[in-house]
Amino acid sequence: MHVDLLITHAAQLLTLAAPGPRTGRALADLGLVEDGAVACRDGRIVAVGPTREVLAQVDSAAETLDARGRVVMPGFVDAHTHVVYAGDRAAEFEQRVQGATYLEIMAAGGGIMSTVRATRAASLDQLMDQTRARLDRMLRLGTTTVEAKTGYGLDAETERKMLQVIAALDRTHPLDLVPTYLGAHAVPAEYSGRADEFVDFVVGELAQLKAEGQPIEFVDVFCDAGAFTVEQSEAVLTQALALGYKLKIHADEFAHLGGASLAGRLGAVSADHLAVTPPEEMRRLAEAGVMGVLLPGTSFGLGHTHYADGRAMVEQGVAVALATDLNPGTCPCESMPFMIALACRGLRLSPAEAVVAATLNAAWAMGRGDRVGSLAVGKQADLLVLDTTDYRDLAYRFGGNVVQRVVKQGTVVV
Ligand code: NIG
Ligand code: FE
Repeated sequence: MHVDLLITHAAQLLTLAAPGPRTGRALADLGLVEDGAVACRDGRIVAVGPTREVLAQVDSAAETLDARGRVVMPGFVDAHTHVVYAGDRAAEFEQRVQGATYLEIMAAGGGIMSTVRATRAASLDQLMDQTRARLDRMLRLGTTTVEAKTGYGLDAETERKMLQVIAALDRTHPLDLVPTYLGAHAVPAEYSGRADEFVDFVVGELAQLKAEGQPIEFVDVFCDAGAFTVEQSEAVLTQALALGYKLKIHADEFAHLGGASLAGRLGAVSADHLAVTPPEEMRRLAEAGVMGVLLPGTSFGLGHTHYADGRAMVEQGVAVALATDLNPGTCPCESMPFMIALACRGLRLSPAEAVVAATLNAAWAMGRGDRVGSLAVGKQADLLVLDTTDYRDLAYRFGGNVVQRVVKQGTVVV
């Protein structure tokens, strides 16, 4: 057959193919092929495996890349981001370095609320430009699919503006974006002291957004100290479920309220953060098939020495995924390779486990496991060529960028 792009002789080809998210011992299975090749046509993978076998199926290629001495693997899938926002919080970071805590700054009207003020004030074009610049950097670092949350509007108009930015960038940027509505990210100033009324507003908004046909795949809520209680979170997520949305929850980032159990009860696709989740709740997540999206960049960004116990979760059978949590407060970092490096140190995952968590499992955590996250015939041709012979360099080295080329739907974009 004739193909558009043929990549041959990779020192290590990580296929990661699996019918679902990987758990337990299988989490470390990279499907590694030495001297591997992959062929793409019309944006999809049409052949993958040992170079000899792939070449036997390919008669001609419009473009050929020799990947000798390189690693070829699926693009990173970033399953939890707040990539759409205006402004920055460098001044708050400086306050935190001097001893103020994240929750203290938030209680004083800063934190998420300061980004809400900046995001409300930004024009659609300003918000689009700032977000696009972040997506460009993510792509250079190897991310090819990204989940993107609202939650810095907290009013009818700005939440819709954020949804519009996500939809427009999904159409115009090489990266694919998956939209999540996080209308309950914080209680806005105009509802101060009236959190229940704000929850009622969000519940009403969900029905309205559905009626408008707004592009939303997931609904998320920040269930934690200083944000929403389990009861309030349940009200939002129950309405979302009734409307047919898939669920996510921010749980146990700062305080253990029971958000992970709520995720299990409601059949959420994922519970995210889980920094202070006790072992019995990990077991409940595993039993309910709720994925754990771990965000070690947030612990690092907050300057915490405590990380989620990823090792224990894997041992309890939780399907874990990795993401950046990219946001202006706790983790202004676009790099999935840095998350892999942190996962091996803070979460106690092995390099192979961290790579699977950042690709295949992350794709399942955002409802894209059938399309991306692994290299298999029929899947989207989203792949990376790394400037190293050993995938472990993703974890071992840090602070640089080993991603040499990025292929998005069969086209070399970096
Ligand atoms: O995941 N936890 C809630 N949201 C973000 C922080 C957002 C912000 O500080 O702006 C998080 O850490
Ligand atoms: Fe988050």
